[in-house]
Amino acid sequence: MSEMKRLAGEKAIEYVEDGMIVGVGTGSTVAYFIDALARIKDRIAGTVSSSEQSTARLRQHGIEVLDLNHAGALSLYVDGADECDPHKRLIKGGGAALTREKIIAEASQKFVCIVDPSKQVPVLGTFPLPVEVIPMARSLVAREIVAMTGGQPVWRDGVTTDNGNVILDVHNLSIVDPVTMERELNQIPGVVSVGLFARRPADVVIVGGQPPQVL
Ligand code: A5P
Repeated sequence: MSEMKRLAGEKAIEYVEDGMIVGVGTGSTVAYFIDALARIKDRIAGTVSSSEQSTARLRQHGIEVLDLNHAGALSLYVDGADECDPHKRLIKGGGAALTREKIIAEASQKFVCIVDPSKQVPVLGTFPLPVEVIPMARSLVAREIVAMTGGQPVWRDGVTTDNGNVILDVHNLSIVDPVTMERELNQIPGVVSVGLFARRPADVVIVGGQPPQVL
């Protein structure tokens, strides 16, 4: 699969224009995008990063990482996904970076999602849905998720997000109405963000292959 990820990551470079500040996601597919971005780093004005992991890789390449508060609105965000449905709605957060990813997606005019073919699904929910939660609300939120969705939340033990929070992965969901589920889960006190990107889906999906498919 890593070859498919590389092909998707490299194709996304075509969306980078001179002078842009580029929003950069997190994960193994994005790592290929970052490596390709390094080759044209002198043409861009910098990046905004969605995780400490991506920041480290960007800085290793000598690519400038800016604070979103200084960068303002972004033209382009490139990120991976754990699942992608035919409407370009996504599950993200397998790498625990969902909150910062959602912030950057919201700040960006165009969200280009880069995936290998295994991420394409007819209906979201086979991949356990990540939810970032304030630590003291973990059990409360888990109980409310069971009551609301019927899914089974599992605490991702040993993982602390870049924001100091915990992750619940919700198993056994079949998400036929992701916009409504995203909105309702977001309203549980203690939930920081939900790994459903449905209200703000991707604008373009690049599926790695020979040649890459652009949806
Ligand atoms: C990070 O929290 C996730 O949202 C990633 O975007 C996702 O897990 C990407 O997966 P890959 O490592 O397969 O690119």
